[in-house]
Amino acid sequence: MRAWILAPVLAIFLFSLGAYAQNGGCSSTGQSPYDYSQALCMAMLFYEAQRSGYLPADNRVDWRGDSATGDGSDVGLDLEGGYYDAGDFVKFGFPLAYSVAVLAWGLDEYSGGYRTAGQTAYGRATIKRATDYLLKCHAGSKVLYGQCGDGDIDHEYWGRPEEMTMSRPSYKIDEQNPGADLAAETAAGLAAASIVFQGTDASYANQLLDFAKEMLELADEHQTSYVNSIPAGDFYNSWSGFQDELGWGACWLYKATGEQSYYNQAEGYYNSFNMANDQEVNFYWDDKTAGVYALMTEFGQDSKYNDRFAQFLDSMRTSQRFTNAGLIFINDWGSIRHALGLAFIAIRGADLGINPATNRNFAQTQIDYAVGSQGHSFVVGFGTNPPTHAHHRAASCEDPPAPCSYDDMNKVDPNPHVIYGGLVGGPTDTNDNWQDNRSNWQMTEVGLDYNAVFSSTLAAIITLNY
Ligand SMILES: *[C@@H]1O[C@H](CO)[C@@H](O)[C@H](O)[C@H]1NC(C)=O
Repeated sequence: MRAWILAPVLAIFLFSLGAYAQNGGCSSTGQSPYDYSQALCMAMLFYEAQRSGYLPADNRVDWRGDSATGDGSDVGLDLEGGYYDAGDFVKFGFPLAYSVAVLAWGLDEYSGGYRTAGQTAYGRATIKRATDYLLKCHAGSKVLYGQCGDGDIDHEYWGRPEEMTMSRPSYKIDEQNPGADLAAETAAGLAAASIVFQGTDASYANQLLDFAKEMLELADEHQTSYVNSIPAGDFYNSWSGFQDELGWGACWLYKATGEQSYYNQAEGYYNSFNMANDQEVNFYWDDKTAGVYALMTEFGQDSKYNDRFAQFLDSMRTSQRFTNAGLIFINDWGSIRHALGLAFIAIRGADLGINPATNRNFAQTQIDYAVGSQGHSFVVGFGTNPPTHAHHRAASCEDPPAPCSYDDMNKVDPNPHVIYGGLVGGPTDTNDNWQDNRSNWQMTEVGLDYNAVFSSTLAAIITLNY
């Protein structure tokens, strides 16, 4: 080919390469007012950036490599894999299991959204990396490893995961050192994931389901918090108690198996733990009571659940604090993920016939806050003027051999690497105050659970609107 023909071809090639780098490979789809499908694509990319262990050949995040490949060696096991929790490098089992449950709920219920966005295979792969890891953590009958890494030791380090050398102890629950919240949450995540894989890989789905049943048994037999067995109390304490997880785990086993005994078990917890009288209005890694209301309503065996769920959603919309710009404000830690957890729950209510227009509108305003209605996006790499200083160690480091240390947390420069699709914490008060400030982890940290509610709400919104 002559040079004059080659030049425009080369220009187009370089342009598309630039566009690829610019959006992480998630091209715009033309959806308006915000490109929810592109956001869902990026939300999946975020999980790739969080991968721990060996990275598979399909890894799309070129600034990440293999790391923490020796996890579990302290106890003679292979616990390599899974995901880092947030901006740090601990693998915390409790929020991971919750994230799996929420991601699977979204992919199962709103598969049309994933399909429209071209993200079905990525959604499954995101979940499977977590469930493959959980299968490794199942180290014996009623034994579950629930954490790799020590929060305090880990938090003394700022640098790349590929280069970390601190000790990463492994912690478990079992019949001698139990933890009902962790075991039941894991049961919920596994059962929800089994529904996702039932159609494509039934033997894998059944393996997850058997594991889920065993975890719920372990939880039921030893009703105590996992923080008595695993040193997670300063990071993911189960403040709301293990009761909500027992109910939620039993609900998911009923949904996955259709066996009435699990429904009865869920109802038993609901009654004996007086879950109807829980006054907390939230849905996040610690408190799944609203999820129990939603699932029991969906099962349709008793109208009292529908009534309680409707009351919950009313109280959510009318008796809570909102920021001036309309974000429901549960508290100042990850305010947007709290809002999106409730947005997803509101969409479930709407789809079950509870004030559909009002509850959908609530969800729409919350997701729009996250992706752009404030004049900028709270999602790294997405939309208008997105965050460039996410509190995330790996993204903050220059490529090696440049050193990386706490200086990189405190520097004013933007992150050298764009952690596409990471939803940041958000405002810390009801005046919508927010700064793109890496040192302020309440405002700018990212996390597995944040992106779980973000992804599932996006999938629902896409299903409903496009
Ligand atoms: C960034 O956040 C830190 C921690 O909250 C705070 O000390 C610092 O003043 C903030 N930086 C700016 C420029 O506001």
